Amino acid sequence: MATRTEVEQFLDRLRQDLERQHIEIPTLPDVSVQALFITQDASSSIIDLVKLVSRDTALAARLIRHANSPAYRGLSHCSTIRSAVTRLGMERTRQTIMALSMKTVFQSGNETIRERMEALWNHSLEVAIISYLLARRHPHLDPDTALLAGLVHDIGMIPILRRAEKTPEIYEDPRALQAAADAAHVAIGRAMLKSWNFEPEIIRAVSEHENLDRQPERGAPVNYCDILQAANIESHNATQHRLAHIDRSSVASIRRLAAKSDTTRLNWEDDAIGLEHVNQMIE
Ligand SMILES: [Fe+2]
Ligand SMILES: [Fe+2]
Repeated sequence: MATRTEVEQFLDRLRQDLERQHIEIPTLPDVSVQALFITQDASSSIIDLVKLVSRDTALAARLIRHANSPAYRGLSHCSTIRSAVTRLGMERTRQTIMALSMKTVFQSGNETIRERMEALWNHSLEVAIISYLLARRHPHLDPDTALLAGLVHDIGMIPILRRAEKTPEIYEDPRALQAAADAAHVAIGRAMLKSWNFEPEIIRAVSEHENLDRQPERGAPVNYCDILQAANIESHNATQHRLAHIDRSSVASIRRLAAKSDTTRLNWEDDAIGLEHVNQMIE
């Protein structure tokens, strides 16, 4: 078992390296980098995105399926990449590409770390699905943005796991690893998303997802911070995690998203159409 000092030392080194930008940050999948590049370049057009998507048939098929989702009900069926990208628009196409290729960031060739990375991916996927479903109820929010936020909300765990794996006294002690994660994953995640040029609203939501004391302004509309935090709490429901044992009524995001004002239940699982669609898209 790691001693308190060992955990502190591990964290100090991690923080120093973060300040000096010495943290080894995983690279975004090439298709995501290209999609970001295209959407941020004023001289690019939809055709550039169509060309990018055409290079990956599996991605193209999922993107077309997304464009034919219930969110675009009533519109004619899209059968080509071009019609799908045109319907989604450049920004939403980029977000969808990033969401659909994010899984590779969580993959590891290292046997020791693989299981933990898989568990992290499954948790991220669950948070993404719940975020998507919660956002669908609020027309001013974009479910695709919520989905992407969910997928990356604990991304700061990846450099921690990679570092801890080289420090057996931390890695083999679940409580020490949890303490390191609790102390550092949000700051590292924020730094990663900034370096990946993510949109500010996703960075803000990820930065705030563990802050149970946040007090949104009275009457302010629900935002991605509420969605992401509530989805993360929901995903830990009925587990051993500390978030399973909190007083839900004291958390603003839960109160703001509750199905009825006198409960703390979110009832996201009632949205069968949304659930079917999001499962189909990310499977
Ligand atoms: Fe987290
Ligand atoms: Fe989480």
